[in-house]
Amino acid sequence: MPNLREVVNLVPYVIHCYASLGSTNDLAREMADAPEFTCVAADEQTAGRGRRDRAWHSSPGEGLYLSILLRPPSSSNIPLISLLAAVAVAETLIARGVAGVDIKWPNDVLVNERKLCGILAEGASGGGAAGGLRIILGIGVNLNHPSFPSELRETATSLLIETGQRVATDEFRDQLLERIAHWYDVWRRDEIAKITGRWRELSSSSRGQRVVVTLDGERLIGVTDGLTATGALRLITDRGELKTILAGEVARLRKDS
Ligand code: BTN
Repeated sequence: MPNLREVVNLVPYVIHCYASLGSTNDLAREMADAPEFTCVAADEQTAGRGRRDRAWHSSPGEGLYLSILLRPPSSSNIPLISLLAAVAVAETLIARGVAGVDIKWPNDVLVNERKLCGILAEGASGGGAAGGLRIILGIGVNLNHPSFPSELRETATSLLIETGQRVATDEFRDQLLERIAHWYDVWRRDEIAKITGRWRELSSSSRGQRVVVTLDGERLIGVTDGLTATGALRLITDRGELKTILAGEVARLRKDS
């Protein structure tokens, strides 16, 4: 059995904190019949997962590795849950006085153009009689990493690298959970324009940015043109077509490329 360190009650959340886990998302999935807002956090992950089957660098004691069990009442606007999580992370950073915060579509949070936070939202199903939809919202935030392995050094950053100051992981976690509770409540009230509006304010990638979008080996080059009502990225390609991007990897290009 994994090594449970403590259980923290932070209404509405109950946070199960472990010293070490494979992946917090995996344990949260096993707890899919627990009440909504059950969380799993770990000091390290030995098999932390990112999007597109990538690994998530999860060194001991240096990051926030957190998964939240959500049991949304309906399946509409589910993709907005990871966008609202990115908004919550960005707001937490800004409230702490961090400069250079940006959201890269759909939900990477960057500081000074390097990735500080990744979000992996996965569907899960409950067992037995307890039906209904579950979302495991996994959030990794680089807090106290003094450096990164060479393959990440150009693209990743941490709060310690950016500000020179160490961060108390539990304090950051609790501030972030407060912002997530706020935005999830907005989502549950179906006020989704508030979420996309706030996302746009916090993201330089939402409008007029020259990007390349890669999906399944296909590349689209163009200029971003905001979000759809449900959080997809609008792209005006170099061929003059308007494309709605639901998934894919977006990389910024220089204006003249
Ligand atoms: C990404 O590729 O950007 C998403 C990274 C998500 C990492 C977090 S850390 C907590 C949770 N557990 C995992 O295994 N992954 C997510």
